[in-house]
Amino acid sequence: MQTEDFTGLLAATNATLARIAAEFSPAVFASSLAAEDMVLTDMILRARLPIRIFTLETGRLHAETLGMLDRIKETYGYDVQAYRPDTGAIDGFVQQNGLNAFYDSVDMRKECCRIRKVEPLNRALAGNKAWITGQRRAQSTTRAGLDVQENDEAHGMAKFNPLADWSEEDVWHYIRTNNVPYNPLHDKGYPSIGCEPCTRAIQPGEDVRAGRWWWENPESKECGLHVVDGKLIRIKPAAQPTSA
Ligand code: ADX
Ligand code: SF4
Repeated sequence: MQTEDFTGLLAATNATLARIAAEFSPAVFASSLAAEDMVLTDMILRARLPIRIFTLETGRLHAETLGMLDRIKETYGYDVQAYRPDTGAIDGFVQQNGLNAFYDSVDMRKECCRIRKVEPLNRALAGNKAWITGQRRAQSTTRAGLDVQENDEAHGMAKFNPLADWSEEDVWHYIRTNNVPYNPLHDKGYPSIGCEPCTRAIQPGEDVRAGRWWWENPESKECGLHVVDGKLIRIKPAAQPTSA
Protein backbone atom coordinates (compact mmCIF):
# COMPACT_ATOMS: atom_id res chain seq x y z
CA MET A 1 0.00 0.00 0.00
CA GLN A 2 1.25 3.50 -0.76
CA THR A 3 2.09 5.59 2.31
CA GLU A 4 -0.72 8.06 3.01
CA ASP A 5 1.62 11.01 3.64
CA PHE A 6 3.98 10.30 0.76
CA THR A 7 5.11 13.95 0.63
CA GLY A 8 6.18 13.71 4.28
CA LEU A 9 7.97 10.42 3.64
CA LEU A 10 9.83 11.97 0.70
CA ALA A 11 10.82 15.02 2.74
CA ALA A 12 12.12 12.82 5.57
CA THR A 13 14.16 10.72 3.13
CA ASN A 14 15.65 13.79 1.44
CA ALA A 15 16.50 15.16 4.91
CA THR A 16 18.24 11.87 5.84
CA LEU A 17 20.34 11.98 2.67
CA ALA A 18 21.26 15.64 3.24
CA ARG A 19 22.25 14.86 6.85
CA ILE A 20 24.45 11.97 5.73
CA ALA A 21 26.22 14.23 3.22
CA ALA A 22 26.70 16.99 5.82
CA GLU A 23 27.63 14.94 8.88
CA PHE A 24 29.07 11.65 7.61
CA SER A 25 31.34 12.71 4.76
CA PRO A 26 32.80 10.80 3.01
CA ALA A 27 29.74 8.60 2.54
CA VAL A 28 29.03 6.05 -0.19
CA PHE A 29 25.90 4.45 -1.61
CA ALA A 30 25.91 0.73 -2.54
CA SER A 31 23.63 0.30 -5.55
CA SER A 32 22.49 -3.09 -6.84
CA LEU A 33 20.90 -1.11 -9.74
CA ALA A 34 17.43 -2.46 -8.79
CA ALA A 35 14.30 -0.29 -8.28
CA GLU A 36 14.93 0.89 -4.68
CA ASP A 37 18.49 1.81 -5.57
CA MET A 38 17.34 3.77 -8.63
CA VAL A 39 15.10 5.85 -6.34
CA LEU A 40 18.08 6.68 -4.12
CA THR A 41 20.32 7.29 -7.15
CA ASP A 42 17.78 9.79 -8.49
CA MET A 43 17.45 11.56 -5.13
CA ILE A 44 21.23 11.76 -4.56
CA LEU A 45 22.04 13.00 -8.08
CA ARG A 46 19.08 15.39 -8.28
CA ALA A 47 20.15 17.07 -5.03
CA ARG A 48 23.81 16.96 -6.19
CA LEU A 49 24.85 15.43 -2.89
CA PRO A 50 28.54 14.55 -2.49
CA ILE A 51 27.81 10.83 -2.02
CA ARG A 52 29.72 8.44 -4.28
CA ILE A 53 27.67 5.67 -5.87
CA PHE A 54 29.19 2.23 -6.48
CA THR A 55 28.01 -1.20 -7.50
CA LEU A 56 29.42 -4.66 -6.80
CA GLU A 57 29.86 -6.13 -10.27
CA THR A 58 29.97 -9.80 -9.28
CA GLY A 59 30.64 -11.17 -12.76
CA ARG A 60 27.30 -13.05 -12.64
CA LEU A 61 24.83 -10.17 -13.15
CA HIS A 62 22.12 -10.16 -15.85
CA ALA A 63 22.85 -8.19 -19.02
CA GLU A 64 19.79 -6.04 -18.16
CA THR A 65 21.33 -5.13 -14.80
CA LEU A 66 24.68 -4.23 -16.36
CA GLY A 67 22.77 -2.16 -18.92
CA MET A 68 21.61 0.09 -16.07
CA LEU A 69 25.15 1.47 -15.80
CA ASP A 70 24.70 2.92 -19.33
CA ARG A 71 21.16 4.11 -18.56
CA ILE A 72 22.43 6.01 -15.52
CA LYS A 73 25.24 7.54 -17.59
CA GLU A 74 22.76 8.59 -20.32
CA THR A 75 20.18 10.00 -17.89
CA TYR A 76 22.37 11.70 -15.29
CA GLY A 77 25.83 11.86 -16.91
CA TYR A 78 27.12 9.91 -13.90
CA ASP A 79 29.60 7.02 -13.84
CA VAL A 80 28.71 4.47 -11.17
CA GLN A 81 31.94 2.95 -9.89
CA ALA A 82 32.10 -0.84 -10.34
CA TYR A 83 33.98 -3.01 -7.83
CA ARG A 84 34.92 -6.47 -9.08
CA PRO A 85 35.95 -9.65 -7.24
CA ASP A 86 39.57 -10.73 -6.96
CA THR A 87 40.22 -12.87 -10.06
CA GLY A 88 42.61 -15.21 -8.20
CA ALA A 89 39.97 -15.98 -5.58
CA ILE A 90 37.33 -16.61 -8.25
CA ASP A 91 39.61 -18.88 -10.28
CA GLY A 92 40.54 -20.91 -7.18
CA PHE A 93 36.91 -21.31 -6.08
CA VAL A 94 35.65 -22.24 -9.56
CA GLN A 95 38.52 -24.67 -10.21
CA GLN A 96 37.90 -26.45 -6.93
CA ASN A 97 34.10 -26.39 -6.80
CA GLY A 98 32.83 -25.74 -10.33
CA LEU A 99 31.06 -22.69 -11.78
CA ASN A 100 27.71 -23.23 -10.04
CA ALA A 101 28.73 -24.64 -6.64
CA PHE A 102 26.28 -22.28 -4.88
CA TYR A 103 23.44 -24.73 -5.59
CA ASP A 104 25.23 -27.47 -3.60
CA SER A 105 25.01 -26.07 -0.06
CA VAL A 106 24.37 -22.89 1.92
CA ASP A 107 28.07 -22.86 2.84
CA MET A 108 29.18 -22.92 -0.81
CA ARG A 109 26.64 -20.24 -1.62
CA LYS A 110 27.91 -18.03 1.19
CA GLU A 111 31.52 -18.57 0.10
CA CYS A 112 30.63 -17.49 -3.45
CA CYS A 113 28.85 -14.39 -2.06
CA ARG A 114 31.86 -13.71 0.17
CA ILE A 115 34.27 -13.73 -2.77
CA ARG A 116 32.01 -11.95 -5.27
CA LYS A 117 30.27 -9.44 -2.97
CA VAL A 118 31.52 -9.20 0.60
CA GLU A 119 35.25 -8.81 -0.09
CA PRO A 120 34.69 -6.21 -2.86
CA LEU A 121 32.26 -4.42 -0.51
CA ASN A 122 35.00 -4.16 2.12
CA ARG A 123 37.24 -2.48 -0.46
CA ALA A 124 34.46 -0.12 -1.55
CA LEU A 125 33.71 0.94 2.02
CA ALA A 126 37.30 1.44 3.22
CA GLY A 127 38.01 5.00 4.37
CA ASN A 128 34.37 6.13 4.55
CA LYS A 129 32.30 7.31 7.51
CA ALA A 130 28.97 5.89 6.38
CA TRP A 131 27.38 3.74 3.75
CA ILE A 132 23.87 3.72 2.37
CA THR A 133 21.69 0.84 1.17
CA GLY A 134 18.28 0.55 -0.49
CA GLN A 135 16.92 -2.03 1.98
CA ARG A 136 13.28 -1.79 3.07
CA ARG A 137 11.67 -3.30 6.16
CA ALA A 138 8.81 -4.85 4.16
CA GLN A 139 11.16 -6.81 1.89
CA SER A 140 11.63 -9.89 4.05
CA THR A 141 11.42 -11.49 7.46
CA THR A 142 15.15 -10.90 7.91
CA ARG A 143 14.58 -7.12 7.48
CA ALA A 144 11.55 -6.67 9.75
CA GLY A 145 13.57 -4.84 12.41
CA LEU A 146 15.48 -2.58 10.03
CA ASP A 147 16.16 1.02 11.15
CA VAL A 148 16.98 4.06 9.02
CA GLN A 149 20.27 4.46 10.91
CA GLU A 150 22.37 1.60 12.22
CA ASN A 151 25.88 1.12 13.53
CA ASP A 152 27.81 -1.25 11.28
CA GLU A 153 30.38 -2.47 13.77
CA ALA A 154 32.03 -4.87 11.34
CA HIS A 155 32.91 -2.03 8.97
CA GLY A 156 33.41 0.52 11.74
CA MET A 157 31.00 3.07 10.31
CA ALA A 158 27.39 4.19 10.26
CA LYS A 159 24.98 2.46 7.92
CA PHE A 160 21.83 4.10 6.57
CA ASN A 161 18.73 2.52 5.06
CA PRO A 162 16.87 5.71 4.00
CA LEU A 163 14.02 3.70 2.42
CA ALA A 164 13.42 1.54 5.51
CA ASP A 165 9.86 2.93 5.87
CA TRP A 166 8.98 2.83 2.17
CA SER A 167 6.50 0.35 0.71
CA GLU A 168 6.91 -1.26 -2.71
CA GLU A 169 4.13 1.01 -3.99
CA ASP A 170 6.02 4.08 -2.72
CA VAL A 171 9.08 2.98 -4.71
CA TRP A 172 7.10 2.57 -7.94
CA HIS A 173 5.16 5.79 -7.39
CA TYR A 174 8.45 7.67 -7.14
CA ILE A 175 9.89 5.94 -10.22
CA ARG A 176 6.82 6.69 -12.37
CA THR A 177 6.29 10.29 -11.27
CA ASN A 178 9.96 11.17 -11.71
CA ASN A 179 10.59 9.15 -14.87
CA VAL A 180 13.42 7.27 -13.24
CA PRO A 181 15.04 4.60 -15.47
CA TYR A 182 14.67 1.08 -14.11
CA ASN A 183 15.86 -2.46 -14.78
CA PRO A 184 13.54 -3.99 -17.46
CA LEU A 185 13.57 -7.30 -15.53
CA HIS A 186 11.15 -5.69 -13.03
CA ASP A 187 8.48 -5.82 -15.77
CA LYS A 188 9.15 -9.54 -16.29
CA GLY A 189 8.29 -10.84 -12.81
CA TYR A 190 11.48 -9.96 -10.98
CA PRO A 191 10.71 -7.66 -7.99
CA SER A 192 14.12 -8.44 -6.42
CA ILE A 193 17.23 -8.84 -8.58
CA GLY A 194 20.61 -10.29 -7.66
CA CYS A 195 23.04 -12.47 -9.62
CA GLU A 196 21.54 -14.24 -12.65
CA PRO A 197 21.97 -17.89 -11.51
CA CYS A 198 20.56 -17.06 -8.04
CA THR A 199 17.50 -15.04 -9.11
CA ARG A 200 14.32 -16.14 -10.85
CA ALA A 201 10.95 -14.61 -11.66
CA ILE A 202 8.16 -15.03 -9.09
CA GLN A 203 4.51 -16.00 -9.50
CA PRO A 204 1.73 -13.51 -8.64
CA GLY A 205 1.12 -13.51 -4.86
CA GLU A 206 4.57 -14.89 -3.99
CA ASP A 207 6.83 -13.07 -1.53
CA VAL A 208 8.95 -10.36 -3.24
CA ARG A 209 12.19 -12.15 -2.37
CA ALA A 210 10.87 -15.63 -3.24
CA GLY A 211 12.94 -15.61 -6.43
CA ARG A 212 16.25 -15.05 -4.63
CA TRP A 213 18.18 -18.24 -3.66
CA TRP A 214 14.76 -19.93 -4.03
CA TRP A 215 16.19 -23.32 -3.06
CA GLU A 216 17.11 -22.09 0.47
CA ASN A 217 15.06 -21.36 3.63
CA PRO A 218 13.88 -17.73 4.04
CA GLU A 219 16.10 -17.33 7.15
CA SER A 220 19.34 -17.98 5.25
CA LYS A 221 18.51 -15.69 2.32
CA GLU A 222 21.01 -12.90 2.90
CA CYS A 223 24.24 -12.53 1.01
CA GLY A 224 26.43 -11.37 3.89
CA LEU A 225 26.40 -7.69 2.94
CA HIS A 226 23.98 -6.82 5.71
CA VAL A 227 24.43 -9.27 8.53
CA VAL A 228 26.94 -8.75 11.32
CA ASP A 229 27.62 -11.85 13.41
CA GLY A 230 24.18 -13.11 12.52
CA LYS A 231 22.31 -10.02 13.66
CA LEU A 232 21.87 -6.37 12.87
CA ILE A 233 23.31 -3.95 15.39
CA ARG A 234 21.42 -0.77 16.05
CA ILE A 235 22.38 2.62 17.42
CA LYS A 236 20.68 3.25 20.74
CA PRO A 237 18.71 6.52 20.81
CA ALA A 238 20.66 9.34 22.50
CA ALA A 239 19.72 9.82 26.18
CA GLN A 240 17.21 12.63 26.67
CA PRO A 241 18.43 15.42 28.97
CA THR A 242 16.53 15.36 32.25
CA SER A 243 15.21 18.63 33.64
CA ALA A 244 16.56 19.47 37.12
S1 ADX B 1 20.95 -8.66 -1.00
O1 ADX B 1 20.59 -9.82 -0.16
O2 ADX B 1 21.48 -9.01 -2.29
O3 ADX B 1 21.81 -7.71 -0.27
P1 ADX B 1 18.97 -6.90 -2.09
O4 ADX B 1 19.17 -7.29 -3.50
O5 ADX B 1 17.59 -6.74 -1.57
O6 ADX B 1 19.57 -7.99 -1.12
O7 ADX B 1 19.82 -5.60 -1.84
C1 ADX B 1 19.69 -4.84 -0.68
C2 ADX B 1 20.68 -3.71 -0.75
O8 ADX B 1 22.02 -4.24 -0.72
C3 ADX B 1 20.63 -2.89 -2.01
O9 ADX B 1 19.65 -1.88 -1.91
C4 ADX B 1 22.03 -2.34 -2.09
O10 ADX B 1 22.18 -1.22 -1.23
C5 ADX B 1 22.87 -3.49 -1.55
N1 ADX B 1 23.32 -4.37 -2.65
C6 ADX B 1 22.85 -5.59 -2.98
N2 ADX B 1 23.50 -6.08 -4.06
C7 ADX B 1 24.41 -5.14 -4.41
C8 ADX B 1 25.38 -5.02 -5.47
N3 ADX B 1 25.56 -5.98 -6.37
N4 ADX B 1 26.13 -3.88 -5.51
C9 ADX B 1 25.96 -2.90 -4.59
N5 ADX B 1 25.06 -2.96 -3.61
C10 ADX B 1 24.29 -4.05 -3.51
FE1 SF4 C 1 27.57 -16.20 -6.11
FE2 SF4 C 1 24.90 -16.39 -6.32
FE3 SF4 C 1 26.03 -15.02 -4.31
FE4 SF4 C 1 26.08 -14.09 -6.81
S1 SF4 C 1 24.24 -14.37 -5.50
S2 SF4 C 1 27.75 -14.07 -5.41
S3 SF4 C 1 26.38 -16.00 -8.00
S4 SF4 C 1 26.13 -17.24 -4.69
